[in-house]
Amino acid sequence: MQIVNIGTDIEEVRRFENIDIKTLRRLFTKEELEYCLKSKNKAQHLAVRFAAKEAVFKALPFEEIALKKIEVIREQGAKPQIIVHDERAKDLIFKLSLSHTKNNAVAFVIVLKDK
Ligand SMILES: CC(C)(COP(=O)(O)OP(=O)(O)OC[C@H]1O[C@@H](n2cnc3c(N)ncnc32)[C@H](O)[C@@H]1OP(=O)(O)O)[C@@H](O)C(=O)NCCC(=O)NCCS
Repeated sequence: MQIVNIGTDIEEVRRFENIDIKTLRRLFTKEELEYCLKSKNKAQHLAVRFAAKEAVFKALPFEEIALKKIEVIREQGAKPQIIVHDERAKDLIFKLSLSHTKNNAVAFVIVLKDK
């Protein structure tokens, strides 16, 4: 296994407090919105997912990809994972860590591939 790149991003939670649904649907998948919008701290979950998308974007070995194609998935009670819905990412492995507080959300990603 070889490290391709790392990426990180930090977001202010308040930016995600009053976003219109059209913008949300442009940035996030249906499953991401379902997870975030059912929660008490909606903006924190949205902010950390946006941070994850930006962190992955920084670490990808190619540019020009819609943020919605970078998805954070959460199985019940499990660690968050990244799926990049793009043929160019098919051999890449993503390791993700997220954290958020009332004010800030941070994401860190490592991108790996088999040698
Ligand atoms: C998982 C845990 C570490 C999260 O920590 P936290 O300070 O509450 O929350 P953070 O803001 O740092 O992180 C939240 C994010 O962690 C991620 N996360 C959740 N469970 C995770 C896990 N098991 N592993 C890795 N990441 C996890 C999620 O992506 C979550 O964000 P999301 O809900 O928007 O998807 C915490 O809830 C936990 O279970 N701690 C165990 C403590 C414990 O058992 N102590 C007793 C020891 S005897």
